[in-house]
Amino acid sequence: MAVRPVVVWPDDRLRQASVPVTQVDDRVRTLYRDLCDSMYAENGLGIAALQLGDPTRMFIVDPKLAGKSEHDLPVAFINPEVVWTSDEMQKSDEGCLSFPDIYIQVERPMKARVRAMGIDGETFELEGEGLLARCLLHENDHLTGKLLVDFVGPLKRQMIKKKLARRERERDDEADDLR
Ligand code: NI
Repeated sequence: MAVRPVVVWPDDRLRQASVPVTQVDDRVRTLYRDLCDSMYAENGLGIAALQLGDPTRMFIVDPKLAGKSEHDLPVAFINPEVVWTSDEMQKSDEGCLSFPDIYIQVERPMKARVRAMGIDGETFELEGEGLLARCLLHENDHLTGKLLVDFVGPLKRQMIKKKLARRERERDDEADDLR
């Protein structure tokens, strides 16, 4: 088990093609545990493997958001596929662990149905509404290399880049101060 650093945009690793899982083996189970630890460390509701720099086609979602008990483990979506989305849309601010402290208004379907393989290797489907649909579609976007900044124009994208670079510099300065 390990908390691994989350890759922050514009790191190229977020745009890698993700590779389908052929078998849920020890490597995939270890990645799942690292995803869980890293998501909880950052108080996220979901995280994709690409955000840890790993191109495995997989994301996880907070158990409570996914309709389980808060004491359950996060739900793994391996080789996910969006099989249905509603015509009804929703518009809301959206965040991402790879864009710390950035929120962007994104319009998405109100409901979405995803088919995936679980960490037990069994195929399942889950339909989400509202925030869960938003989360499923956001995490699925990661696996196709699509990111929050793809929903904004070039000016806003430039602003976000500057803000994240400034944040990175401040963090480096803090690290220097501790030495
Ligand atoms: Ni994200």
